[in-house]
Amino acid sequence: MIKTSTIFTGDNLPIMRGMDSESVDLIYLDPPFNSNRHYAAPIGSKAAGAAFKDVWTYEDTDDAWWGELADAHPVLYKVIDGAGAAGGKADKAYCIYMAVRLLEIHRVLKSTGSVYLHCDPTMSHSLKLVLDAIFGHDNFKNEIVWFYKSGGASKKHFARKHDTILFYAKTVATCFNVQKEKSYNRELKPYRFKDVDEYQDEVGWHTLVNMKDVWQIDMVGRTSKERTGYPTQKPLKLLQRIIKSSSNEGDVILDPFCGCATACMAAESLQRKWIGIDISPKAFELINVRLKNELGGIFSSVIHRTDIPQRIGGQRSKDIKHILFGQQEGLCNGCKSVFEFRNFELDHIIAHDVGGTDDDSNLQLLCGWCNRKKGNRPMENLIAELVREGILRKEDSQR
Ligand SMILES: C[S@@+](CC[C@H](N)C(=O)[O-])C[C@H]1O[C@@H](n2cnc3c(N)ncnc32)[C@H](O)[C@@H]1O
Ligand SMILES: [Zn+2]
Repeated sequence: MIKTSTIFTGDNLPIMRGMDSESVDLIYLDPPFNSNRHYAAPIGSKAAGAAFKDVWTYEDTDDAWWGELADAHPVLYKVIDGAGAAGGKADKAYCIYMAVRLLEIHRVLKSTGSVYLHCDPTMSHSLKLVLDAIFGHDNFKNEIVWFYKSGGASKKHFARKHDTILFYAKTVATCFNVQKEKSYNRELKPYRFKDVDEYQDEVGWHTLVNMKDVWQIDMVGRTSKERTGYPTQKPLKLLQRIIKSSSNEGDVILDPFCGCATACMAAESLQRKWIGIDISPKAFELINVRLKNELGGIFSSVIHRTDIPQRIGGQRSKDIKHILFGQQEGLCNGCKSVFEFRNFELDHIIAHDVGGTDDDSNLQLLCGWCNRKKGNRPMENLIAELVREGILRKEDSQR
């Protein structure tokens, strides 16, 4: 179990491979788009020093991935081969890189969960096939067009003014909360419908209808409070819309390419739990600044991890508990009382918040009561408190 709110600095592939299956409610990802460009934040901006490349070759992939896909995921293998046949080596390399990550994304999602893959028309056609192969064609929900006005134009073709967000559910049991939008009456006068509520604002009369799949939301403006200078920063409003639609309060949101942590910020503002991953250490620096500047008030303290988590759910968790139960001879490591196996909880001796890992050597069994009392503090504090309260004899505390 990964504590929320956590920022991991590192490659998201090994980190997601270390996450427990079915542990996340919603995943938003905004990976590099295969734009054949290098991005850097302007000097002097909050994000200065942040940079990432978006140029793809086979060197970005691991030969083992291709073998793994051929062996275990033949449909996916064919799809990617097709993308390579039509688009060339860079497209194929990009698809392999994305496919191995999307397989992990599918695994860590709960059955009620969904994924929003943010891309643009450079690769959206190939990524849709990759998602069909992994999530199943029937679990496709929407191709959302995010339309914006800013940016340049071209004399050779129509101005390119939208990104594509591919929305897939893991199963039919997916969580979805209908959102509403304004629909202005043609005459900008009330229709005086009998059975619908009509409203008036500065534009005119409107009703509220179920939201459509074309979203016009402005890019983060030059003078906006939100602006960090991080290249490719997405608007908070876009992320809030996604999070409201596909999760509920208390749910866990993951963004494995979190950049300047926009999705984490949006999750925090909507009382969701969150995990962000980015290869650049800027994400952790920026989330702390952003939480303070943009949300103010009370917000979660952010855990920063640079280790690779290890799955402790499922079989590994059961195995470790049995091993520790034997080693501790059925005694709680805190109060030294005997408990039945089922009353023990797996505890991180050094908590994640202060740099503890999921390694076997950092795990122990505590009774539920001691585990709650210890929280994220060191063992010495728990022991001292138990001795002070007379629950543990001083002699026993040395054992
Ligand atoms: C398009 S940006 C994301 C921007 C983000 N949505 C925001 O609003 O700030 C893509 C991010 O992916 C990160 N990245 C690229 N490859 C990665 C990898 N293998 N693991 C983790 N992060 C990676 C880059 O550092 C960059 O911050
Ligand atoms: Zn105990």
